[in-house]
Amino acid sequence: MNTGLTTTKAPFIEEARGTGQLFITQPYALYCEENHEAWRQLYRRMIPLWQRYANPHFLKGLQCLCLPPDRVPKLEEVNRFLEPLTGFRAKAVSGYVPAFLFFDCLRNREFPTTITVRSLENLDYLPEPDIFHDVAGHVPMHTDPAFAETLVRLGDCAHTAVEMVAGMGNAKEQLRRLTNILKAFARFFWFTIEFGLMSTPEGLKVYGSGLLSSYGEIVHSIESPEVQRYPLQIEWVINQAFEIDHYQPLLFVVESFDHLYQLVDTLERWMREGRLNNVAPGEPTMRESDLQSFLHVAGNGGQRA
Ligand SMILES: [Fe+2]
Repeated sequence: MNTGLTTTKAPFIEEARGTGQLFITQPYALYCEENHEAWRQLYRRMIPLWQRYANPHFLKGLQCLCLPPDRVPKLEEVNRFLEPLTGFRAKAVSGYVPAFLFFDCLRNREFPTTITVRSLENLDYLPEPDIFHDVAGHVPMHTDPAFAETLVRLGDCAHTAVEMVAGMGNAKEQLRRLTNILKAFARFFWFTIEFGLMSTPEGLKVYGSGLLSSYGEIVHSIESPEVQRYPLQIEWVINQAFEIDHYQPLLFVVESFDHLYQLVDTLERWMREGRLNNVAPGEPTMRESDLQSFLHVAGNGGQRA
């Protein structure tokens, strides 16, 4: 059976991972008919929900990118539309990108992009990203200049974190502080880029990509009385644990992407002032590979090696 480039079932991806190739080219010919059908169904059912719940920057981005509704998009084509707008490019990856590398890509206006597609049996929920989440959920936002600058600033913050960590002597304390700083980053990223809401003259709209790529949760995030929605406060967000395996019960609202950009500035200032060194314990747990990705660069005096 040809499993094409289906999530967790793609020999091409296994091979790339096996040989340590993180950045790859999208082998477009390998997509099977089921992959295109999954994209088709996902895209078709999201259109009316995007019209109703997505923020206008996303809708405009969707138009600018001319994503094909009936087949998996080619990243090359996506980038042809995207790059002239903000300099951002979708960059194919074979799997998880360790945190420092991920943020460093953002700083270089590259977005690590998953190229596999969820299976038809799993259209509703997938714990890992797939191309629908990354290209339909994230990339349209990258056409917006203020949002693009915010991602670049998040990339800058990763470099500031390296600076902060490299300046500490004691290895044990270095690791403890870095764990706290990265937890704060992960929470900020989660409650903004992945699950953010924005207040607009037309009411609350979604800009977080986790919501924009979820058929069930996009509606739930705006309509459900079960969800608590608050104006974003950094002190809350960086201390707020989250879980990934169910709909989010708590969401935060920003005013605009300029507002979000300012929040990233504040986050960086707080990091420099040591205010991210002791955040509340709890999820997410930091992966060893994420911590090592920062410590490795810190150990090289801030240079990637
Ligand atoms: Fe995402």
